[in-house]
Amino acid sequence: MNTTSDVANLRREYTLLGLRREQLSPDPFVQFQLWFEESVRVAGSDEPNAMTLATASRDGRPSARVVLLKAYGSNGFVFFTNYESRKAKQLAENPFAALNFYWPWLERQIEIEGTIERVTREESEKYFNRRPKGSRLGAIASRQSEIIPNRDILERRLAELAATYAQTDPPTPEIWGGYRLAADRFEFWQGRENRLHDRFCYVQTGEKEWRIDRLSP
Ligand SMILES: Cc1cc2nc3c(=O)[nH]c(=O)nc-3n(C[C@H](O)[C@H](O)[C@H](O)COP(=O)(O)O)c2cc1C
Repeated sequence: MNTTSDVANLRREYTLLGLRREQLSPDPFVQFQLWFEESVRVAGSDEPNAMTLATASRDGRPSARVVLLKAYGSNGFVFFTNYESRKAKQLAENPFAALNFYWPWLERQIEIEGTIERVTREESEKYFNRRPKGSRLGAIASRQSEIIPNRDILERRLAELAATYAQTDPPTPEIWGGYRLAADRFEFWQGRENRLHDRFCYVQTGEKEWRIDRLSP
């Protein structure tokens, strides 16, 4: 393709809701929970727990992909993945990461920044064993982010694993598990008319203290 496609007419007005300082919890984790629970109620079959995870290499080159939030609380935001994937390699070099939720059904965005650590082995095993068998076998079959010559390789590996573990549960792979992002910055964004969106940013100032600032859209 050697031309530029003009998609400048794709636009939407945000008119659903507003966000005022008085509505915000002083605790960003509580604020996240309020918005998350509302999003789950409204989302229907969409995945409100899908979030973009941005990581960066040692020298600061960023990359981003979608992962699923599987647990959250005041100690952080948990997702599961392959510990040898591209994202995992970047996290080993550079623990800073960012999460982004976009919920068009509420005209909302949440940005969360912080540092990432692995969850305990026990937590990873506990979640792995809750996954449907097909997902567990798929996680074992895939060396995530590696180059493969064709799809057949994956299908064959999966069929072999299905035969091996026909009567038993597969073990949690050593190279698979969770990460937890410990947040030190949040932003809650509510779309408004004429692009005058409401934005509130929480920055951590003490162990349980947060400063809340309104940001210009
Ligand atoms: C809706 C959605 C949910 C996903 N959830 C996960 C997930 O929870 N864990 C995961 O490793 N990959 C998940 N993926 C795949 C990732 O986006 C990505 O392709 C994969 O993790 C490899 O990324 P990497 O090569 O940058 O490490 C998901 C993709 C989509 C579109």
